[in-house]
Amino acid sequence: MKSQTPTNLGRVSIILVLACCTFLASLTSAEVHVREFVIEAKPVKRLCRTHQTITVNGQFPGPTLEVRNGDSLAITVINRARYNISLHWHGIRQLRNPWADGPEYITQCPIQPGQSYTYRIKIEDQEGTLWWHAHSHWLRATVYGALIIYPRLGSPYPFSMPKRDIPIILGEWWDRNPMDVLRLAQFTGAAPNVSDAYTINGQPGDLYRCSKPETVRFPIVPGETVQLRLINAALNQELFFTVANHQLTVVEVDSAYTKPFTTNVVMLGPGQTTNVLITANQRPGRYYMAARAYNSANAPFDNTTTTAILEYVNAPSGRGQITPVFPVLPGFNDTATATAFVNRLRYYKRAPVPLKIDENLFFAVGLGLINCTNQNSPRCQGPNGTRFAASMNNVSFVLPRTNSVMQAYYQGIPGIITADFPPVPPVQFDYTGNVSRGLWQPVKATKAYKLKYKANVQIVLQDTSIVTPENHPMHLHGYQFYVVGSGFGNFDPKRDPASFNLFDPPERNTIGTPPGGWVAIRFVADNPGAWFMHCHIDSHLGWGLAMVFLVENGVGQLQSVQPPPLDLPRC
Ligand code: C2O
Repeated sequence: MKSQTPTNLGRVSIILVLACCTFLASLTSAEVHVREFVIEAKPVKRLCRTHQTITVNGQFPGPTLEVRNGDSLAITVINRARYNISLHWHGIRQLRNPWADGPEYITQCPIQPGQSYTYRIKIEDQEGTLWWHAHSHWLRATVYGALIIYPRLGSPYPFSMPKRDIPIILGEWWDRNPMDVLRLAQFTGAAPNVSDAYTINGQPGDLYRCSKPETVRFPIVPGETVQLRLINAALNQELFFTVANHQLTVVEVDSAYTKPFTTNVVMLGPGQTTNVLITANQRPGRYYMAARAYNSANAPFDNTTTTAILEYVNAPSGRGQITPVFPVLPGFNDTATATAFVNRLRYYKRAPVPLKIDENLFFAVGLGLINCTNQNSPRCQGPNGTRFAASMNNVSFVLPRTNSVMQAYYQGIPGIITADFPPVPPVQFDYTGNVSRGLWQPVKATKAYKLKYKANVQIVLQDTSIVTPENHPMHLHGYQFYVVGSGFGNFDPKRDPASFNLFDPPERNTIGTPPGGWVAIRFVADNPGAWFMHCHIDSHLGWGLAMVFLVENGVGQLQSVQPPPLDLPRC
């Protein structure tokens, strides 16, 4: 008699699992999308020059992923580039599965050149516009793409959904290798060079040298309504977006529906997405869509404008003949317009906002400067012979090097991260006033804050005026949160909560602090794991504007982090 070998057993169980999956799939019509993402340098020509650009499958921007709520993805990332890399699926909740989230040294070690890793992602109760991007150094400058989640088959949209849907990814382009721009800044301690162009779906548009022939054109039929899925994939810049002569109706932000409202202009911080409807109800013709900086800081920025063309199919005398109509854009520092836009957002229905708060956190976020002993050192080219830094509650986050936070947490490895991130600033001060120089220097450390499973969390994110007040687009991994309130100046815990919107606040995954102001968010800590929270301006992230939440397991398997996959990269 032959006993069953482990391999046979394995085979049988694989067959059973497969059979079971197919059966379930036929019930729910959920699909598994199996894809290969090859990271490789490819020549890309922009602004008259060709660069060896890091791409996915040779594409820039990278491939668009289109899935349905309930689907799964198995994306094998093969690293054929000369840099370490990891990919992040921005806004996907990754319930109990931080291993697929992607930020390097937070939930995984990076995928080294020649190695590969398969991200196994389940879309659970999410729909709308998200995106994916590299989460290693500055590789996301060119390694990004749209991730569109349609509702389950037969599940309706809360608004009348147009037949046509156009992803519009706003990006930022350097006429150099972005990794070299970063490296130089890391050496000198000064701010990195600003970009040379913004892009729409990878193209700078008519207003840049050598770019006009490639300007993106969107044909539209008169009377037609289309949905634009706007994604701000720019590395370091909040952007205003507008279309000449056309109104935009906002219906979704960060994969959460909103009460529809019309506007001429949209403001998106890096990381944010906004869906708008646009109707071709103007004179047959050609109209520019344009994006340029919303710059809230007292700092240099790229002041160029990217454009694409909305082209009525019945426009007289064809392309190239009539100059498109140019839109009016808000001024670069028009905080009033940015704030007015953000403050109009409302969740599309009554939101299940946590009312009883278990964890009341107050995070001061902003820039800082590290003093140098030798101010003339080539490594101290920041303001007055310092190095730029940034912090949350005075902790300037340092990424671990020898392991990821999640692996250390899961396996109980000491010495990688400490769970003593302060719930309030160690020193209280007038955050938005004239801050004394003694408070400008943060402390470098790798700190996390622990949350009990299912804790109701409120965080007030308070911008500081250290170096400069600024809109910091704060992104929380693994969660969607409600934005219950915001204001300028210092948060007043006695007065301000009275004005919170606990009825229909917008749900988001990234929210900007008003420059010199505060924003309050709430969420339930129902997703165990290590989750990064950081400013989505990559220069600030590199300076340490980040922290980690360690969310504990609940009771039993269904409330606990899954075991790590076998191919999880090693450091
Ligand atoms: Cu889209 Cu940690 O980022």
